[in-house]
Amino acid sequence: MPVPPDLFVAGMRLHAAGVTVVATSFEGRPSGLTATAVCSVSAEPPQLLVCVHRGAEANEPIRRSRLFSVNVLAAGQRRLADRFAGRLGHSGPARFEEGRWTRLVTGAPVLEGARAVFDCSLVTAVEAGTHTIFVGLVEAVAMRPELAPLVYHEGEYGLVAQLPS
Ligand SMILES: Cc1cc2nc3c(=O)[nH]c(=O)nc-3n(C[C@H](O)[C@H](O)[C@H](O)COP(=O)(O)O)c2cc1C
Repeated sequence: MPVPPDLFVAGMRLHAAGVTVVATSFEGRPSGLTATAVCSVSAEPPQLLVCVHRGAEANEPIRRSRLFSVNVLAAGQRRLADRFAGRLGHSGPARFEEGRWTRLVTGAPVLEGARAVFDCSLVTAVEAGTHTIFVGLVEAVAMRPELAPLVYHEGEYGLVAQLPS
């Protein structure tokens, strides 16, 4: 028997996670969302996955364009995280009016100031409850390792602190 959803959510709140913006473009219209449910799948071939709510406006465009980017946010980009989570009242292309957005290989919008960018073509989409698991083949990577990462933990944004070695 599954546990109640609120118990699951309470447990997952204790999982500190990096914050990303997943972005796509279908027929010239960009869309995107903030997502922490992002995970490496394999290095050979280079693949990652992202879990996107079926009701999110970017879900169908990812499915149809078969391309998306995962933009790993830096500590200074929490406002962008709120923007792409719809917390500032923007939707669709209006979310892209903040930040410098460009393209690499697939044509998905990528964020120039992100800590890391993974430009992906869609390999497969698996339905799992309320969400779709999109698996992407990574066709380009851009990195800014000098920037500090943005994390999400217990419903708040935070920074990573190093333990003394
Ligand atoms: C820190 C954070 C992490 C999130 N992670 C995910 C996620 O992994 N998958 C997802 O579908 N939604 C996630 N969301 C919620 C979406 O960003 C939000 O619902 C988004 O606006 C999608 O709906 P819309 O684009 O239709 O407005 C997250 C929100 C926040 C603030």
